[in-house]
Amino acid sequence: MGPTIGVFDSGFGGLTVLRALLPLIPGARYLYLGDTARLPYGSKSRETIARYAVSSAKFLLEQGAEHLVVACNTATALALDEIKAALPIGVTGVIEPGAAAAARGVGDGSEGHVLVLATAATVQSGAYTRAIGAHGMAVTERACPLLVPLVEEGWLDASAETAAVTAEVLRIYLASAQKDAPGATTLLLGCTHYPLLTPMIEATLDRLNYPLAMVDAAQATAEAVGAHFPRSAKGRIEGTSMHFFATDSVEKFRRLGSRFLGQGLERVELIDLGG
Ligand code: DGL
Repeated sequence: MGPTIGVFDSGFGGLTVLRALLPLIPGARYLYLGDTARLPYGSKSRETIARYAVSSAKFLLEQGAEHLVVACNTATALALDEIKAALPIGVTGVIEPGAAAAARGVGDGSEGHVLVLATAATVQSGAYTRAIGAHGMAVTERACPLLVPLVEEGWLDASAETAAVTAEVLRIYLASAQKDAPGATTLLLGCTHYPLLTPMIEATLDRLNYPLAMVDAAQATAEAVGAHFPRSAKGRIEGTSMHFFATDSVEKFRRLGSRFLGQGLERVELIDLGG
């Protein structure tokens, strides 16, 4: 039997990290909690984010998690220390692996300048500036508070007219970032929802003539988690099980979640973690 790995996010976005974990740690029992009733975390205070994140982490511990992945940038930025202090198991957040991946992408790091797009709370915390700065690279952070609701609404489908709204919002954010950081080399998506916008982001960067190399923080995080576990069952995923918990509508979790996971979500359970 493989390990039991808890994966936690404020909502659906952390499923992109779970998606990257599946081939890396096959045979594991995955428990995923999306705290959808209390999402978004990204516009809340540090105290509230820490309280929500610790209660979510404890829930996964009670369900048998042997390792916890905080697959939420905001919870990692604002509450990783509190979560670690509250849990007697290994905890991996998304910020250190993302920062290390950005540094690797730049090579020796000496010329690197990373643009980070994230929620307002993550940007305010300065966590990415510290983590990327530790690799000797310059950092510009930009809060993009409208992107999470647009992704939640599913305004991504290039063939639908609603996507034009998302594209215009992205253009405004990226054009203003370009003014502040014209020499940036690398783009780090510091929010779990943003990978779903990757094709639109690439198209916008092209249009702005702003060539940035994109870092896949979900993949980097999955690799950091994988380092904790032997890869004996590499290539086989038959024994893998996934059990999902959501604090709000199971139907919505299934519908939106499949976009992030890239496959259907079968076992989804509604839970109540209070306010
Ligand atoms: N999961 C959050 C993050 O990665 C985005 C959604 C929210 O604001 O709760 O920052």
